[in-house]
Amino acid sequence: MTTLSKTPGVRLARGMVLAALSLSAATLAWSHGDVVPQSVDTTTLPQLGTKWLDANPYSKGPAHKEALRIGTSAYNQNCARCHGLEAISGGMSPDLRKLDADCMGLADAAKKDMCFAEMSEFFAGTVRRGRVRDGRVYMPPFENILTQEAIWAIKTYLETRREP
Ligand code: HEC
Repeated sequence: MTTLSKTPGVRLARGMVLAALSLSAATLAWSHGDVVPQSVDTTTLPQLGTKWLDANPYSKGPAHKEALRIGTSAYNQNCARCHGLEAISGGMSPDLRKLDADCMGLADAAKKDMCFAEMSEFFAGTVRRGRVRDGRVYMPPFENILTQEAIWAIKTYLETRREP
């Protein structure tokens, strides 16, 4: 060991190089399709408060357009890596275009609405808690990453991707 390396300045510099190296290693790992979850700016949407709603408030009405804009980008940043671009699954994760498929065919309007409400609750619950089975994380929980507004915005996007 040289006397030089004992000076604090050099040790600091070496520490920085190590930090930079591990940072780029992390970046490399993420670039293999593993994208860091992104929080989403939802301040332009009507705010929903802390109590979770049981149906998508942006499905219809004046906020639909903005919710669709935000939801499309939030889906691409947080879900597409597993559920596929444009929600077309490559087969490893469920195809989210089919999420409301069982409801679509119902003729009775009241039953159909009830079915959509159940699916919405299931959707929000799944996204908030993720999917962990036997200690394996199949899907990470998004509870503290995405706001309620962001999760319903993603649902709004997925509703435009439903299979006819
Ligand atoms: C790391 C991969 C991954 C990410 C990221 C991911 N999911 Fe999933 N998701 C899965 C897998 C795998 C399943 C099925 C889990 C199982 O078999 O229990 C699933 C299940 C679901 C389900 C239930 C579907 C059904 O038919 O049972 C919904 C809804 C869902 N994901 C929505 C989303 C949304 C919305 C996002 C983005 C906010 C997202 N997921 C991000 C992998 C992922």
